[in-house]
Amino acid sequence: MTSDKSEPPTFDTSVAHQARVYDYVLGGKDNYAADRAAAAAALKIYPELAFSMRANRAFLGRAVRYLAGEAGMRQFLDIGTGIPTAGNTHQVAQGIAPETRVVYVDYDPIVLAHARALLTSNDTGATDYIHADLRDTSAILGQAAGLLDFTKPVAVTLLAILHAIPDADDPHGIVATLMDAVPPGSYLSISHAASDLLGRETVDNLDDVAGRMWQQQFTYRNREQVARFFAGTELVAPGLVRVEEWRPDPGTSEAATSAVWCAVGRKR
Ligand SMILES: C[S@@+](CC[C@H](N)C(=O)[O-])C[C@H]1O[C@@H](n2cnc3c(N)ncnc32)[C@H](O)[C@@H]1O
Repeated sequence: MTSDKSEPPTFDTSVAHQARVYDYVLGGKDNYAADRAAAAAALKIYPELAFSMRANRAFLGRAVRYLAGEAGMRQFLDIGTGIPTAGNTHQVAQGIAPETRVVYVDYDPIVLAHARALLTSNDTGATDYIHADLRDTSAILGQAAGLLDFTKPVAVTLLAILHAIPDADDPHGIVATLMDAVPPGSYLSISHAASDLLGRETVDNLDDVAGRMWQQQFTYRNREQVARFFAGTELVAPGLVRVEEWRPDPGTSEAATSAVWCAVGRKR
């Protein structure tokens, strides 16, 4: 286990990684015994974690569909990409607008190892992958400018990543720096583990499991703290809601409730 859990993860299969636990719960194959054990320990404390993760991934699909469709976005900066799985951002967006350009960013070596699967753009669009820490906004913005035109609107997506940034690293400042770099008419999309949907005891017990078994530690935030990320944007309806409540596909209903807040905002 690393001593500083805010450092970028190293490739260590003996301790759980956020990307690999998420992969496991979503039914992927890129995970190890430590990831499965950490998932089992967390699920024992909070059984709806599996639903929360699946609902988060489904939100990614609907949000990107909205952004590429109704909102007309043709450029995406997707930070905290995760291990490629079905329905990655470029596949969803290019399914609607083939010319879409997507830059992916993640700091986990396991994601880097699978990045080729993200570079399968069609011929009209383009994708790129940047191995970087979200906290290094100047590296991200500098490299992303190789593919994205920052004088035109960009959809910035930060899905299930900001709870891996402790308050000491100023997550609100990081989001503000990213949104300052894109013009009005750009979009910000966030999903975030919700302290106020979990309860104090559950959060404490999950913190304890992360402390013992995970390479990362998480900072769960409440609705007001998540809402503050969207300063300077106009929230798209239905506003800030649980992930499964954000523009659900017609005819679908959910058997459980998640503990993940989300919203999509348009920069003024
Ligand atoms: C739970 S996955 C989410 C994947 C995808 N965004 C989704 O919502 O389906 C979170 C990802 O964020 C990445 N991540 C966490 N902290 C990060 C940081 N400081 N910089 C870059 N990536 C980070 C992890 O490595 C992991 O791949």
